[in-house]
Amino acid sequence: MKLLVVGGGGREHALAWKLAASPRVSRVYVAPGNGGTARDRRLTNVPITAIEELADFAAREGVAFTVVGPEAPLAAGIVDVFRARGLRIFGPTREAARLESSKDFAKSFMKRHGIPTAEYRTFTDAFAARRYVEERGAPIVVKADGLAAGKGVVVAQTVEEAKAAIDAMLLGQKLGASGARVVIEDFLAGEEASFIVISDGRHVLALATSQDHKRLRDGDEGPNTGGMGAYSPAPVVTPEVHARVMREVVMPTVRGMAEDGLPYTGFLYAGLMIDGDGAPRVLEFNCRLGDPETQPILMRLKTDLADLLEHAIDGRIDRIDAEWDRRAALGVVIAAAGYPDEPRRGDPILALPTDSDDCVTFHAGTALADGRLVTAGGRVLCVTALGDTLRLAHARAYDAVAQVRFDGMQYRSDIGHRALKPRG
Ligand code: AMP
Ligand code: GLY
Repeated sequence: MKLLVVGGGGREHALAWKLAASPRVSRVYVAPGNGGTARDRRLTNVPITAIEELADFAAREGVAFTVVGPEAPLAAGIVDVFRARGLRIFGPTREAARLESSKDFAKSFMKRHGIPTAEYRTFTDAFAARRYVEERGAPIVVKADGLAAGKGVVVAQTVEEAKAAIDAMLLGQKLGASGARVVIEDFLAGEEASFIVISDGRHVLALATSQDHKRLRDGDEGPNTGGMGAYSPAPVVTPEVHARVMREVVMPTVRGMAEDGLPYTGFLYAGLMIDGDGAPRVLEFNCRLGDPETQPILMRLKTDLADLLEHAIDGRIDRIDAEWDRRAALGVVIAAAGYPDEPRRGDPILALPTDSDDCVTFHAGTALADGRLVTAGGRVLCVTALGDTLRLAHARAYDAVAQVRFDGMQYRSDIGHRALKPRG
């Protein structure tokens, strides 16, 4: 069968790579794809991004089903359009995707259904918002309501910093319409983890756990990014924490969405803060897989991904299990000069490591220009390796990173540091 993956980042390269490994899959189209998907003979890039045109393409090519990577087409209703035309697709509807596309929707949903998350209030008026942070004190967290590509959250250490963020979002229109409303929530201490499940609307299958590194520089310093690296599993998610997350977060969310008349189908990503007692609280929901979490997660998946997704589309995800490589996986993102503010494009990629069974270089912001690979976005590559221990995965990934060459490349040298340091 032929499949279609929508998107063009590292997550979509990993999805397409894993789907193409299925013996039942003859071709994977990637729309629009990137330089890495262009170079893989089992994949075909399709230069389409408009939703109606994607549906026309899927119908014309007899695509068995479509998988959507990024949030933007989901929030724009790609699933609704495909379903209305009788085309099989895996993802949440536009209304269900509001769990990610509106922080206010997500927070009020969680409150209504008793899902643990930080106390919060929503504001459109800067004066009222400023008064609230004065009352509440710092540290405190200011979030733009809508999608802001990871740039809409300010963890303010002081009241002054919080007020500046409020002014920038509500008065300065720094983020356009997505900042016209802000959610202000209490600061939560603990360790973060990404918990991603496949939901068919009623049942869920948990994927392997993971953790990403959002800050640009070593030691978790510097500006927030989409994610500079990730690893799986996340040791903070012990079997006890896993059980609590399923019981206290995932199942109430899937049940709550169904009760509210918005059954949730698709990947559901809970960004969690786990406190010292192992209690999970939701920082955010994403209605998609994480990038770069997907790269290490899918390196560890042994089950046929096409089978899993077909079961999910058919509402039978409870009839199948996922088998995971017991090894750890770790991915290091290599970003372009100027990332995250103004990534430079067009730098020739002069050298890349050779892929092997336990080390794959997933492409994100790359393009083929006259047969030559060049940078074409902020996060350029994610070099991902398996190892018997996380430390060995780390060593293998960084050996491969050392073989990459392009001008201005930036990467962190400490991916996995929280899991690698002795715990106690
Ligand atoms: P979000 O996009 O909501 O996940 O926020 C981006 C990052 O900001 C998270 O990964 C956390 O590191 C941090 N963050 C968000 N909300 C909180 C909170 N309530 N307390 C502490 N840190 C937070
Ligand atoms: N790596 C974080 C995200 O995909 O949202």
